[in-house]
Amino acid sequence: MSPHNSRLTLTDLARLYRSKEKIVMLTCYDASFAAIMDAAGVEMLLVGDSLGNVVQGEDSTLPVTLEQMIYHTAAVKRGSSRAMIVSDMPFGTSQSGPEDAFRNAARLMSAGAQMVKLEGGEEMAETVEFLVRRGIPVCGHIGLTPQSVHQLGGFRVQGKDEVGAEKLSADAKSLAEAGACMIVLEAMPGALSTRITSEISVPTIGIGAGGDVSGQVLVVYDMLDISSGKKPRFVKNFMFGADSVQAAVAAYVREVKAGAFPAAEHTY
Ligand code: KIV
Repeated sequence: MSPHNSRLTLTDLARLYRSKEKIVMLTCYDASFAAIMDAAGVEMLLVGDSLGNVVQGEDSTLPVTLEQMIYHTAAVKRGSSRAMIVSDMPFGTSQSGPEDAFRNAARLMSAGAQMVKLEGGEEMAETVEFLVRRGIPVCGHIGLTPQSVHQLGGFRVQGKDEVGAEKLSADAKSLAEAGACMIVLEAMPGALSTRITSEISVPTIGIGAGGDVSGQVLVVYDMLDISSGKKPRFVKNFMFGADSVQAAVAAYVREVKAGAFPAAEHTY
């Protein structure tokens, strides 16, 4: 079997979801980390535009370009052979209408992505449907959406009041109805992510959204404690007590699979 054929696919994702086995995802930006994560059993590698923060030193994800995402996606593909690769559509490349989004997503797919992720709710449903109908699996991303940091007034927990919670619930439903095959829920109360997860029939991947979701993702530099600045409450330092990066990543895999991470202290 060629390395490409041994990668996890949407069928594997559906199997994990049906069996209620937690799905393990980490961000990944290069071939070396991709190899470590692959060996440790991380199922999904997210080539996140958070690379703008942790690799490029920017104060937001807004400057990240499509060319840079293509470069990092190709590197992650070269370094891994098993995990499924999801690539972020950077700021301005998905919001520009379905046809433009298709052209941009197609370039990420050609570089090695098996799925693209785009930020936004109901307003992105038409674009999600357009991509999915043309063969591009799409992951939604709602809650704290870093590309909208200026509109959100900073990096804040979302959906804390009833209006906000109803909006996020409606966003998740409309993305799922449009054909999104997975939705990232970022920085929201655990009770809301539990509700959203029960309302839709595609996997939810939480980051700062509690444990009652289908899987977890963290920014790898955060969980290895090598990013600078104050860490959000939902981050756990997996290097603590580990003697190597490989051991830290393996501990993350174990704790997500066992439902031990995130704990109450990581949940809003
Ligand atoms: O870019 C990224 O790392 C992300 C995660 C925070 C989900 O979108």
